[in-house]
Amino acid sequence: MRKFAVHTTLVAGLALAVAPGAMAQMPEGVTQEMIDQGKQIYSGAGICMACHGPEGGGMPNLGADLTDSEWAIGDGSFESILETIREGVSADKSASGSVMPPKGGSQIDDDQLRAVAAYVWSLSNK
Ligand code: HEC
Repeated sequence: MRKFAVHTTLVAGLALAVAPGAMAQMPEGVTQEMIDQGKQIYSGAGICMACHGPEGGGMPNLGADLTDSEWAIGDGSFESILETIREGVSADKSASGSVMPPKGGSQIDDDQLRAVAAYVWSLSNK
């Protein structure tokens, strides 16, 4: 456990040293390019904005706030966010009773899905 903590600090330190201002500790497989691309998809092909609002702040009875660190579904990790977007949210899982169709009902492909999940992850990990 102790060893892990030291290691994590070292990795975060390196990330900061290499790219000043970049977010520390990005999940494995996530890059700043993906996050930037995901932002476009969020308000474009992914139509996420329609229910979650332009900045991801949520809309009453339409879509949850994606910028806070409270997660109705999953634990807020990148993989868990990815899974939620891929599968959508059924009425029995939804805190508000509103449903989200798989991929929000959009036709985004797998790369776009990963990018938009990276963007959503970044919203609560600034
Ligand atoms: C048709 C409306 C709609 C669209 C479009 C939509 N969502 Fe959702 N989303 C919802 C609803 C409803 C929930 C569940 C809210 C609740 O539990 O109260 C949800 C939940 C989520 C959650 C889980 C939030 C949590 O607190 O656990 C994530 C992440 C998410 N959406 C991301 C996305 C992304 C990314 C897109 C675009 C690809 C998208 N959504 C498109 C309606 C939508």
